[in-house]
This record gives sequence, C-alpha cells and structure tokens, in this order.
Amino acid sequence: MNEVCFKNLNKENCWSLAVYEASGGYKIWRKILQGKLTPEQIIDELKASGLRGRGGAGFPTGLKWSFMPRKSDQQKYVVCNSDEGEPGTCKDRDILRFNPHAVIEGMAIGGFVMNASVGYNYIRGEFMEPFNRFEAALKEAYSAGLLGKNISNSNINFDLFSHLGAGAYICGEETALLESLEGKKGQPRFKPPFPANVGLFGQPTTINNTESFASVPEILQKGGKWFADLGVENSGGCKLFSVTGHINKPANFEVPMGLAFKDLLEMAGGLRPGRKLKAVIPGGSSTPLLTAKAAMAMNMDYDSIEAAGSMLGAGSVIIMDDSTCMVKTLTRLAHFYYDESCGQCTPCREGTGWLYRVLRRIMDGQGKPEDIDLLLGVQGKIMGNTICALGDAAAIPVESFIRLFRKEFEYYIEHGESMVKI
Ligand SMILES: Cc1cc2nc3c(=O)[nH]c(=O)nc-3n(C[C@H](O)[C@H](O)[C@H](O)COP(=O)(O)O)c2cc1C
Repeated sequence: MNEVCFKNLNKENCWSLAVYEASGGYKIWRKILQGKLTPEQIIDELKASGLRGRGGAGFPTGLKWSFMPRKSDQQKYVVCNSDEGEPGTCKDRDILRFNPHAVIEGMAIGGFVMNASVGYNYIRGEFMEPFNRFEAALKEAYSAGLLGKNISNSNINFDLFSHLGAGAYICGEETALLESLEGKKGQPRFKPPFPANVGLFGQPTTINNTESFASVPEILQKGGKWFADLGVENSGGCKLFSVTGHINKPANFEVPMGLAFKDLLEMAGGLRPGRKLKAVIPGGSSTPLLTAKAAMAMNMDYDSIEAAGSMLGAGSVIIMDDSTCMVKTLTRLAHFYYDESCGQCTPCREGTGWLYRVLRRIMDGQGKPEDIDLLLGVQGKIMGNTICALGDAAAIPVESFIRLFRKEFEYYIEHGESMVKI
C-alpha cells in the first residue's frame, strides 16, 4: 500500500521539493539531463511496467508515448489532465496536493521522451488548494534549475505551465480539454486526427492523466518489472481507488491491482452498522452498476471487473447499501449528465434531457408503465452515436440500473413512491 503516488504521504511537508528529493525524486530527471537515459529505454521500461492510463480508458502509457512523431520538427506538447470531474473520483486532486513534484517530474520525462519542450497541466477550476500546491512546486522546480531552457547545459528544454479550467466535466475529455486550453469553448473534436498528430494548437500532443504521469518516476527508479509485479497480469502496478458512499472511512487508497474488492471495502471501514451491501459502481459514475454479489466476487483489476460486468474506469468505487433507492440515485446521475452535456451532438444534448425528464416524472409520481422501455430506448439511441464518450457515460448507468433493479422502477411507477423504506 502507498508505494508510488502516495509513498511520501505520511511525511511532514510531503509536497515539498526537499521531501521529494530525499526519497529519490528527480533522480531519473537528473539522469536524463546527464544524457544517461534514452527515450527508447524509457518507453521499453514503461511498456514492461504494464502501466495503463489512469484517466479511465486504460490505454497503455508506454505505447501511447511511442506514437508521438518525436522526430518531426514541429512544436510538440505534453498535457496533463487534472480536470477530474467524474462523479466518485477524487484521487488526482490529492496527488497534486501531496505529491506535485511527481507530476512535474513525470511530465518532464514525458517531454523528453516525446521531444516536447512545453507542457501544460490542466487543473479543474474548483481545485484551488491543489492548484496552489502545484504552482508552489513549479516555482521550487524552476528555482532548483530543474525546468526551463537548456536545463543544466543539457540542451534539453522543458517549460511547464498550469492552467485552471472552469469546472466543466466535458473539459476532462481530452480534445475538449485542448479546445479549452486554446481559449475556446470546451467541445470535443472529431477523431481522427488524434492528438498525437494534430493536438494543441494543431501540433503533436500527448495527454495523460495526473496519476499516469505521477507513476512514471517511481516506475523508472525501481524498474518496469518491479511495478508490473505489484499487480496482476494485464493490470500492472498499484492504483489509487477513491472509495466513497455508504462506508465508514471514505478515502483514496493506493493498493496493488488485483486486490479483492471485499478487502478494499474493509480498508474503507466497511458498511455502516446494520446495513447490507446493495450495489457498487466500481470505476466512476460512467461505468456499469454491479450487484453486491458480483462485486463481492471480483478483484480490483481491469480483467476481473470486466468479467463481473463493469469497468475499472478511473478507479472510483461508489458503495451503496440497502438504504439506497435506485430510482432516486439514477435520477441524480441523469441530472448530472444532462447538466454537463456540451450540446454539440443531438443524441446527447436531447437524449440526456429526455432521460432526466422521464426519471424526474417517475420520481414525481407521474410515471407511466411504458417509461421504462422509453428510458431504455433513449439510452440505446445515445450509446455509440456521439463524438465523445460523454453520451455513452450518460447511457451506461440507465441500462445497468434498470437491468439490475427493474422491479424498483416498476414499483415507483405503480405506487408513486420508492420501494425502499429507510
Ligand atoms: C466526458 C469525459 C470526461 C473525462 N474526464 C477525464 C478527467 O477528468 N481526467 C482524465 O484524466 N481523463 C478524463 N477523460 C479521459 C480522457 O479523455 C483521456 O482518455 C485521458 O486523459 C488520457 O489519459 P490516460 O491515458 O493517462 O488515462 C474523460 C473522458 C470523457 C469522455
């Protein structure tokens, strides 16, 4: 536990340069500046580590970095995605608060590997404390001569800037983030072209999640194999899981991939007295809901969660006990997606409104028996029909909540009130 992003968590002033360097921080960056590591060696090590993108899609980081046209003479960029808007996710803000130098070093290493001399960290607008910590760390790194132009006479340039968003969930989608960074309305772009070819300001760009970047220095210090061996096949290393909901100790836990869900639940203090587990969203609100039985049998890694019927996503585990009304919970989620749809694609703009309004009328005791099929029909028309995955994210909970707890929806429509009496 706490081996990578949180390894200094219990030390006083763990966010400072002094504490970071005392635990081996910037060793890899200094090695690079001394010409002792090549981009190819770093990519090989990352591939061996099995690190997969921690922003939700789980794309292998080493492979992503290898796609950048590093030899082209265009300006290239690395961008860190610290937007963290997925309901249930609260890990990246803590990395910025408690280990900002790991993000800086990870981004600088990425800049070297991909021949990008400029980086941006896009931080969610509400994250004032994480933003201030990151800014303070940037100042420390510049003062220590670790960033800038021709760093330590190495011929390597890397300038890093942070940028505050304005609190829109869609700006976590990587191409909407790029639009927002360019000063435009945050709306996703069509892909292809992918950012590796046409990204920020039309130049080759690689975007990674905060946790992905922050994991890189430790992986390179201890070796790709060391990291891979912490986890299980296909899910290398450890991962931060944000455990929230009906538990006694909601928190972020950095644990090895493949840990049994029931052990994670125990680490989070277990359920409230007298309560039973009812359902779990394992990877953030955009991932399918699981029953208690499916969750209790799964492990926290990509393959096991997929076999249970959901996705690891951003590792945001939302625990629901038997006091949860599934109709009310889904209505709350549907409102979120309705509110956050950027409005660019018709199926998402209109569909999320339909989903919310139909659920709202069920909640208001005005539901009709055909509403359940209407909800399933609308979500089916959003799924796969939008430029970005926000549409899918809005559709997925509707399908899984109704599939697993249809009786609760039927009861609400018939009686005008919840089946769950607390
Ligand atoms: C609607 C939407 C919101 C997203 N929000 C985030 C986010 O807040 N943070 C993040 O890292 N990735 C987010 N993503 C995923 C990014 O588009 C992208 O895949 C990720 O930043 C890549 O980094 P990784 O390869 O390190 O995971 C979001 C995707 C969608 C469709």
